[in-house]
Amino acid sequence: MSFFKTIEKRRSIRSFSIRPIESSKTNKILKAASMSPSAKGLQSFRIYVVKDKMKKEKLVHAAHKQEYVNAPLLLVFCTQPTKIKKIMGIRGEHLFSIQDATIAASYAQLAATALGLASVWIGNFNEKLVQKIIKTPLRPISILPIGYPNESPQSKKTKKINEIVKSI
Ligand SMILES: Cc1cc2nc3c(=O)[nH]c(=O)nc-3n(C[C@H](O)[C@H](O)[C@H](O)COP(=O)(O)O)c2cc1C
Repeated sequence: MSFFKTIEKRRSIRSFSIRPIESSKTNKILKAASMSPSAKGLQSFRIYVVKDKMKKEKLVHAAHKQEYVNAPLLLVFCTQPTKIKKIMGIRGEHLFSIQDATIAASYAQLAATALGLASVWIGNFNEKLVQKIIKTPLRPISILPIGYPNESPQSKKTKKINEIVKSI
């Protein structure tokens, strides 16, 4: 799939087939995330691959009952603000740490799309609960359920380019 086709094809999918994800595809998604740019190349993010069924169900609850969180492949992108703070100060702690994890998750979404899979970015969750479930002191930034799509999205309406771009 060409790069621009991948960008167009990526849509939020909230219903997944039970078909498992091939480990080669999982590895490619994780590799793509690891190739993302990060502040000072520190790769301050960490990715949790949730396999345990019970943990997946608990994460549905932590994401305010978004059932599609229980997907064949479930990734939780976390950040380590304290580590990056030591090297890059306050801006690193409050901004770069979040950006690192966000960019990595975006790369993972696009890689999943290019591999014929689908995903949805989950940002609406109880952070403390997620930390408890996956047993981490790190800050969870995004949950990414990934699977073979079981629905087709409606066509996407986007703002006109001149509404989001200003030439100055
Ligand atoms: C920061 C962020 C948080 C989001 N949180 C959720 C969420 O908790 N649940 C959900 O179903 N979709 C969530 N989404 C997905 C958006 O609803 C979706 O990207 C948007 O409606 C555009 O649709 P598209 O992804 O198909 O282009 C989130 C997206 C972003 C970028």
